[in-house]
Formats: sequence, C-alpha cells, structure tokens
Amino acid sequence: PRNVARAADGALAVAGLSVRDIAAEFGTPVYVLDEDDLRSRCREFRAAFADTDVYYAGKAFLCRAVVRMIAEEGLFLDVCTGGELAVALSAGMPPERIGFHGNNKSEAELARAVDAGVGRIIVDSFAEIDRLTALARERGVRPRVLVRVTVGVEAHTHEFIATAHEDQKFGFSLAGGAAAAAAFKILDEGVLELRGLHSHIGSQIFDASGFEVSARRVLGLQAQIRDARGVELPELDLGGGFGIAYTTQDDPAPPQELAKRLRKIVEGECDAERLAVPQLSIEPGRAIVGPAVFTLYEVGTVKLVPVGAGGGGADGHRAYVSVDGGMSDNIRTALYGASYSATVANRRSSAEPLLARVVGKHCESGDIVVNDEFLPADVQPGDLVAVPGTGAYCRSMASNYNHVPRPPVVAVRDGRARLIVRRETEEDLLALDVG
Ligand code: LLP
Repeated sequence: PRNVARAADGALAVAGLSVRDIAAEFGTPVYVLDEDDLRSRCREFRAAFADTDVYYAGKAFLCRAVVRMIAEEGLFLDVCTGGELAVALSAGMPPERIGFHGNNKSEAELARAVDAGVGRIIVDSFAEIDRLTALARERGVRPRVLVRVTVGVEAHTHEFIATAHEDQKFGFSLAGGAAAAAAFKILDEGVLELRGLHSHIGSQIFDASGFEVSARRVLGLQAQIRDARGVELPELDLGGGFGIAYTTQDDPAPPQELAKRLRKIVEGECDAERLAVPQLSIEPGRAIVGPAVFTLYEVGTVKLVPVGAGGGGADGHRAYVSVDGGMSDNIRTALYGASYSATVANRRSSAEPLLARVVGKHCESGDIVVNDEFLPADVQPGDLVAVPGTGAYCRSMASNYNHVPRPPVVAVRDGRARLIVRRETEEDLLALDVG
C-alpha cells in the first residue's frame, strides 16, 4: 500500500499506525486495508477514464464498508451473484449504479435484481435472455441489458483467468454469430432494453493490445447491428482485468495511459464505422483494491532445509517460515502459481538475507503463500510478516479449509484502525453443523 513506511522503532506503519498495534488489537492473520490508498485509486481511475463509468468489480473484495468507500468516490459496482448483490444493497449502493454479471444467474437472482431495479444486467446466454424476458413480461418492466460478447482474444495471463477465447464458458461467441443473434433476439422481442455490448478479456493483463483488439471487434458488431436493425447501441463496456504489480518484476501501465489508448482506438473505430462514440464503461477490481491491502501474519516456526546446488540461498539452505494462515486466506499462489513478496514487519534487521518460503499452517505441502523471498536470517517465531498486494481475490476467495476461521479486515486511515469485517470464530464454524 501507498501509505506504508518504517516507523522509528523499525516496525512497518500504515497511515501512521504500527503493525505491532494492529496485531495486538486485532490478532493475526489480518488483512490490513490502507483506506486512503483504495480511495486514491478510485479517484485515479475516475480522473484517467473521464467520461467513462467505472464499475468496481466486487468479486475482487466486497464488504459493506468497501461498497460505501467506492460509492463515495463516485464508482459504480459490478456484482456477479445474488450474494454480492445482497451486500451491495445492504450497504445502500443505489441499485441503478449496479451492474449484474454471471454466466448462470438463477431465476431467483434475476428476479431479485429486476425487483431491486439494478441499472443493468449483462446477459450471458440465450436461456438467460428467455428467463429475463419472462420475468420482465410478468412484471411489466423493461430491464436494461448488455450482451456479453466473447471476442476471441487470447489474453496472455493464467489460463483460468483468461475469458475471451472461444473455448470457455462465458458469453456469446462473436465469430460463431451467437453475439449478433443474441442482440437481434433482444431487439426483435422488444421486451428488454438493449443498451450495449460488453467484453471482458481476462484478468491481470499488462498488454493493452488485447483491449484494443477487443474494442475493435465489439465495435464491428455494433456497426453490424446498426446496419441490420437501424439501432445504434448507446453503451459499450470493455470489462476489467488491468494488471497490478505483485512483485518488482511486474510493471503495469498507469490508468491514464490505458485510458488514452482505449479512447483512441474506440474513437478511431467509431469514425471508421460512422458510429457515435458510445458511453464507455470499465470494470476494474484488482487494480482498485489489490495494492491497497497487505496480510499481516505471525511466524510460528522456522525450519532450515538444505537445498541442492543452485536451488538454495548462498548458504545452500532454504528457510520454511510457517505463518498462522496460508492457503485458506490466500489461495492464489497454490491455484495460479501467483507471485508475492514478504517482509519482516515488526522490526528492522541487519542480518544476512536468507532464501525463504513463507508457508501456512494447512495440512498439505502446496500450502505456500510466498514461494521465494529473501528474509533476514534471524527471522524467528513471534516475528510479524507482511505480504502486500492481497486486496484482490484473497479474502474473497478465502476458505475454512482445516476449519481455520477466516481473518478479519481492518481499514486504517489517519492513524486509526477500524474493523470492517470481523474474524470468524469457532462458533461461526460450528454454527452450520446441524447434526
Ligand atoms: N469484469 C468481469 C466480467 C470479470 O469477470 C472480472 C473478473 C472483472 C471485471 C474484474 O477483473 P479484475 O479487474 O479484477 O482483473 N480469481 C482470479 C481472478 C478472477 C477474475 C474473474 N473476473 C485471481 O485471483 O486472479
């Protein structure tokens, strides 16, 4: 996070508050949110993407306090399940500022979204169009929809988080003609209000050319719809997926640069196709919340293991540094091979660097938080370790594996900490057992 620095005693402090105090008050592990950091990223996106609606993708991390923060900063909100919608509504997010995603929304979810009056529903299948059309007819309403288009871009990211190539579950294929057919069906039936097209090519993307290709392709479809039906769709959503730096190896483009490139492509393409430039929107999740959070753990054990020539640190050892969380609070390393960094947070050390692997407390050896990191050789039980960049898809993908309670989220601002999601308790875990 942006507002993190070493205090006089060598401990890390966030917005002026020492991690020692945070650990003492809230325990570990704990997700620490630098609130001003999150808010500043919201503002940067809004400033860079002027005239573009910025939908925060709630799947990255959602709780009521964060909904209020992003709403106060002028963002819209993208949800993709009834559960996310419930959090948004209960936080007071104006429904017309919510977009509802999902490739298999249930009838109940759709009904709830329609009844709440969400601003737009991004339809993903013919079955969903039929379901939503029936609901709208019953209620005599005209929900606003976008059609999710699979543009055939191979985003260069992990296979599981790339979404616009053809051989996966999301959206209507552009090449196969399904996207045009979906738009025609909605227009011809006249029950739903087709506002525009949507494309999301994947996540943790650094190469802006994927967005450019995708924008060109959806605008091509936009022109095709105009030619066939005489309708110019007023909106276009280019999705999220803007990459962030997890380690010093990553070098993401600032939002202004992305915004400029996208604008240029969209305007050029609209010019070429003689289309009015539609109202644009984007859906960043990770880029808003990812860098604003670090996870604070306490070290429980340190084990030195000799490693083969070339594989280990200078002294031929690797330290397995076990912390009090693990794959239940951050599955990304195990699931995607994601890279993180770690640092000893409660003190400064001048000890030699030692090749370390930060591991959790779960019963499997794949329970790795940070695969390779140099930590001071005197790292020891009782030390606090901070892992930055854990705001996105860590708490939101957390599990209770091994009946480990999920950690709390603490927002820090102006030297003060505020609990925004409490720690799960043993009672919470036992509450679901009915036998
Ligand atoms: N819009 C749509 C339609 C999406 O499916 C997603 C992410 C986003 C926006 C936000 O993408 P972002 O800006 O956060 O990259 N669990 C994976 C990421 C899955 C992303 C799913 N969809 C991870 O931990 O990397």
